Amino acid sequence: MDKLIIEGGVPLQGSIQVSGAKNAALPILMACLLAEGKVSLTNVPRLADIRTSLKLLNILGCETTFEDNAATSLCTGLKPEAPYDLVKTMRASVLCLGPLLARLGEAKVALPGGCAIGARPVDLHLRGFERMGAEFEITEGYIKGRCKNGLKGARIALDFPTVGGTENILMAAALADGETEIENAAREPEVVDLANFLNACGAKITGQGTSVLNVKGVSSLIGCDYRIMPDRIEAGTYMVAAAITGGELEILDCPFQDLDAVSYKLREMGVWLQEEDNYVLVRRANGLLENVDVTTLPHPGYPTDMQAQLMALMCFGTGIGTIEEKIFENRFMHVLELVRLGADIRLKGRTAMVKGVGSLKGAPVMASDLRASASLVLAGLAAEGTTTIERIYHLDRGYENIEAKLSGVGARIKRVAG
Ligand code: UD1
Repeated sequence: MDKLIIEGGVPLQGSIQVSGAKNAALPILMACLLAEGKVSLTNVPRLADIRTSLKLLNILGCETTFEDNAATSLCTGLKPEAPYDLVKTMRASVLCLGPLLARLGEAKVALPGGCAIGARPVDLHLRGFERMGAEFEITEGYIKGRCKNGLKGARIALDFPTVGGTENILMAAALADGETEIENAAREPEVVDLANFLNACGAKITGQGTSVLNVKGVSSLIGCDYRIMPDRIEAGTYMVAAAITGGELEILDCPFQDLDAVSYKLREMGVWLQEEDNYVLVRRANGLLENVDVTTLPHPGYPTDMQAQLMALMCFGTGIGTIEEKIFENRFMHVLELVRLGADIRLKGRTAMVKGVGSLKGAPVMASDLRASASLVLAGLAAEGTTTIERIYHLDRGYENIEAKLSGVGARIKRVAG
């Protein structure tokens, strides 16, 4: 397995390009199942999860291409089964459930298991589809869904603004018979991007970006050309990279408007951020960073996907900061690895108390999930000496060309085949 070896201590300087958003591209690829005719997507990040999604589209009956960040999909003869082999490698596969139910009236999708960051059930997705007339049976590790008379528009009030659940229901509702209203919907920018894509294919969705989505079902959707939004989490990770190394980065194609909660916390810590026409400039305002208290929340709150990165930064701050994780019950796998680098972090339930120690020392560490891996890279960039990160396949699921992008701004980072 590949490893990353980082020689820390170089202040990063220069420009770094943000790629297309993984979490927008994944649901949009599944939404291709809804469209008649060809869909052409640009700004698609070259990531392991994208390749898995394309493989899933192939299995479900689409012809796909993927070259130079451009992907196409053309559904020829849809099939209803998403096998366990694929779903187990990527939870987001469950997003094919809504499109399959809408187009075929049936779906058989492997039940995603647990994952490193928590139980992550899909009960809210299923409850939403049931309101639209679908019936489910969970058997032999599969969710088998059927809607004999087609999906009917419904009023669906979500118990929690689940991102995947909102997306799945939104896709199903686009082709359902009649009007659907999703209340307490997720407001994440990636949900907005999906809604915009669906509208570009002919859907009638309003309210995206608010907690009430209204969908007037249409009888068909037609493929279109669409550019995936830039990745706010990747951009936020590079903001932290500038701050943690005491460098200065221009972050190109940065969706700054989607990063309010992150930029608020970074500024509170003493990071200087300035938005220019097509980039955001980031550097430490003065030598010191002051630790802060953060709680992860659904958008527009502080994103759970930027929690681990902020924790790495707080290791270099002064004073004690707290990080409360309210979205996933077990998303602190990076804590013990950061402690291996010399961090002083205490965990109490869903709260981590981070005492700034000013510096970390390189060591071998292990990546456990995507954002945990990102926090270890950030810590390694700023630590004294050598940090070796194992199991970086997690990182390859979410960060396009990370070592090339970071070495382009001065980091001493290399990938070694293991
Ligand atoms: C998406 C993102 C992920 C991000 C997360 C929260 C993608 C591919 N992934 O994941 O990067 O960290 O949003 O912003 O876009 N839940 C239930 N029942 C359900 C659905 C969810 O209890 O039916 C719970 C989950 O266990 C979790 C919480 O709700 O505790 C949030 O999950 P959700 O918003 O659905 O996250 P994902 O869509 O899986």
